[in-house]
Amino acid sequence: MILVLDFGSQYNQLITRRIREFGVYSELHSHRLTADEIKEMNPKGIILSGGPHSVYDENSFRCDEAIFDLGIPVLGICYGMQLMTQHFGGNVRRAKDREYGKADIQVAANSILFDETPNAQTVWMSHGDKVIEPPEGFTIDATSTSTPVAAISDRDRHFYGVQFHPEVRNTEYGNNLLKQFVFAVCQSTGDWTMANFIDQEIDKIRDKVGNNKVLCALSGGVDSSVVAALIHKAIGDQLTCIFVDHGLLRKNEADTVMKTLGDGFKMNIIKVDAQDRFLNKLRGVSDPEQKRKIIGNEFIYVFDDEADKLKDIDYLAQGTLYTDIVESGTETAQTIKSHHNVGGLPENMQFELLEPLSTLFKDEVRVLGTELGLPEEVVWRQPFPGPGLGIRVLGELTAEKIEIVRESDAILREEIKNAGLDRDIWQYFTVLPDIRSVGVMGDARTYDYTIGIRAVTSIDGMTSDWARIPWNVLEKISTRIVNEVDYINRVVYDITSKPPATIEWE
Ligand code: XMP
Repeated sequence: MILVLDFGSQYNQLITRRIREFGVYSELHSHRLTADEIKEMNPKGIILSGGPHSVYDENSFRCDEAIFDLGIPVLGICYGMQLMTQHFGGNVRRAKDREYGKADIQVAANSILFDETPNAQTVWMSHGDKVIEPPEGFTIDATSTSTPVAAISDRDRHFYGVQFHPEVRNTEYGNNLLKQFVFAVCQSTGDWTMANFIDQEIDKIRDKVGNNKVLCALSGGVDSSVVAALIHKAIGDQLTCIFVDHGLLRKNEADTVMKTLGDGFKMNIIKVDAQDRFLNKLRGVSDPEQKRKIIGNEFIYVFDDEADKLKDIDYLAQGTLYTDIVESGTETAQTIKSHHNVGGLPENMQFELLEPLSTLFKDEVRVLGTELGLPEEVVWRQPFPGPGLGIRVLGELTAEKIEIVRESDAILREEIKNAGLDRDIWQYFTVLPDIRSVGVMGDARTYDYTIGIRAVTSIDGMTSDWARIPWNVLEKISTRIVNEVDYINRVVYDITSKPPATIEWE
């Protein structure tokens, strides 16, 4: 395992990801870990990440200095290199201006991190302070015009530092450098694969659960489906899933879940048809936040009712991902998503949690899903909000309006798939604004609803851009929606990015 200590750089998760891509397991942890805790984890190498601070700031993030005495190789990146330099008595200078962007470095011969790469290479710099003089025992391994000490090493003690960011794609030979550290310096083996992960997790789940029973709230989304499939593979019928159909799912969604996981995987799934219960609670409510709250709470009541009927459940399985843990667990985190999932836990439940995906990133979960045999439409399902179509009918919900959104959404999805765009567009759906407008169909005047199409490209949903769907595809979608969905006489395309708009309309 390679341990990455987090000093707050926006790139810190990337380091972990790159290393995992080499087939070496890596975890990102707070810089507050003590040397004893690290010793316990037994990593083969430690990477000190970059960070926004200056080592001279009063409140700058520090690490337990005893980690340098553990005999474990250390690579300091940017701030990490400056911290190491300061610790060993080198000289770091506070800079007035940041150096940000591409830079050309010259590499010294025989430097292990740059082995087999050209002497002149381009790297990505993003720093204020810089190392002016390396500590005693360190050599300078790379220089640039504005950063004379761009890389340092003390090969005897296995300490390395780079001022630039090897984890960023703009650093031409960044992957080589990280690989050299991970394999040549730390002697990692590179045998971390999804197949191994499944075997290990199955053993862990069996050990932990024993003969007890596990409950899982299944939404049909990627994370909960993969969790259920993994746990099912480990303990079979000791797992029970509850799938709540709140009537705000997309077309055929409930059937797909029951067919794939229930029939296909032979999972024990209790499907709760709670459409009326939700619709009744939502009657007369048009405020979006209130709608969200009602749907979220009602979900918990339904889940609670069903869970109460089951006896002797000890564990509750959740599809918590590594990003959820990292984002809420370290004080360096920059952005935390405030959406609450409808599958949120009832507070008074007496279960122990089972979270077997908590070390994985989203794309790793998809690989895991594929490895477990889940079909493509589950593994590559686009994000779908917990409150479902309930926040895509603007204003008060009626069964008729939900049906309009459901049907138009199905047409949109079909045409996006037909056009081969379904993997390129991050999320795409239709919304029903609370307006009507005049149209003409045949020779008659109509006064009907408008459908809005929302399609965005994004990495994580925090920001997004509207997708440039080709006009002929939009034309087909529009024609089909107006012709096939009752009460629609107009289709519009949302061309706002996030910010200033959000992805969903409510
Ligand atoms: P917004 O609309 O805030 O959405 O730009 C960003 C992403 O989050 C999804 N979303 C939710 N997901 N529960 C969820 O599980 C929610 O309450 C919720 N609200 C929005 C949205 O679909 C988009 O992918």
